[in-house]
Amino acid sequence: MPAFPTLSDAPLDGRRVLVRVDLNVPIKGGVIGDDTRIRATLPTLTELLERGCTLVLASHLGRPKGPDDTARLGPVAARLAELLGREVRYLATDGPADPAQAEFVAAAPAGSVTLLENTRFDRRETKNDPELARVLAGYADAFVNDAFGAAHRAHASTEGVARLLPSAAGRLLERELTVLGGLLEAPERPFVVVLGGAKVSDKIAVIERLLEVADTLIVGGAMAYTFVKAQGGRVGDSLVEDDRLELARELLAKAAARKVPLVLPVDSVCAAEIKAGEAVSVHPSNAIPDGLKGLDAGPKAIAEFKDALAGAATVLWNGPLGVFEVPPFDVATRAIAEAVAASGSMSVVGGGDSVAAITKAGLADRIEHVSTGGGASLEFLEGQTLPGVAALGAVAWA
Ligand code: 3PG
Repeated sequence: MPAFPTLSDAPLDGRRVLVRVDLNVPIKGGVIGDDTRIRATLPTLTELLERGCTLVLASHLGRPKGPDDTARLGPVAARLAELLGREVRYLATDGPADPAQAEFVAAAPAGSVTLLENTRFDRRETKNDPELARVLAGYADAFVNDAFGAAHRAHASTEGVARLLPSAAGRLLERELTVLGGLLEAPERPFVVVLGGAKVSDKIAVIERLLEVADTLIVGGAMAYTFVKAQGGRVGDSLVEDDRLELARELLAKAAARKVPLVLPVDSVCAAEIKAGEAVSVHPSNAIPDGLKGLDAGPKAIAEFKDALAGAATVLWNGPLGVFEVPPFDVATRAIAEAVAASGSMSVVGGGDSVAAITKAGLADRIEHVSTGGGASLEFLEGQTLPGVAALGAVAWA
């Protein structure tokens, strides 16, 4: 893992600090659906405030292409203020470089917390435009990146600004990199990995990398059917990436060569359509009748997955095992959430849907580490360099 400066190394006391956080939370009609990512910023923000810093926070929310009233950070500022127990200054503007925003930041009293408007209201953000990075850098004299969820993006507020100000990783970013890095470097064994999700193509690189370190790899979700078909099974109308069958064969061969069991769901809960209330039936995953799709792992598969998890010392879970948002196709995902929590292992869960399943089941407290990164955690586990991390420490501390 690359060395990066942390809050412990950086002379931040009393400074004006720009903190990049990932406050990209689900919001509908102004109501926050899950505040996990807001809570996850608290250790860094509290520490910096205790160290006498004045904070200017930057975050994106959603993927707006310019100013957009439905993607304002107002509700997030209000929730953060509740959680911090102090005022969070926020002004609805046209973006972080809006002159009104600059004035508002200039008026920030010492020791205050100001949240900038959504960085993506400025189209230059995602282009990592140096001019926008300069505006952001002008708001502070140090930069802390705590946005693990956005660390795989080379944007002005993640990468660009780290090239202009002395910088450090916040506590969340530090923990994410330490925990995920530990899985790749020295996991306690047996190390069981559970990967789900719809597409093999999204997970190829991570499967390849994890086959080098895992003792067992469980593959569920719709992507399992590409593997089952690659083995010669009949998968009915299940989702299959036909252009990835050869690749799935290669991954199966690689697992066999390394003697890592690659466990696929032996049976599946099937239906003609993804609809609540649809008639369902259970079939072996390699003998699904035409007209039916495999939409969730079946009871035998769940029992096998649970057995593998029960003996694990380390577990990594990323991705749902069925169409988790449409009951009754959520059964396997919920069962795995419970099995991971009950395993007593060093458990790490990442990816939006698996984290949602854990949170919904009230199990987050029983997971060693719930990652705040979806794409970022996958890219890190694939072994890719995260631009937001690579840039840290580029400018020396004065
Ligand atoms: C996420 O939700 O994974 C991060 O906030 C990054 O968001 P993005 O995929 O829109 O860059």
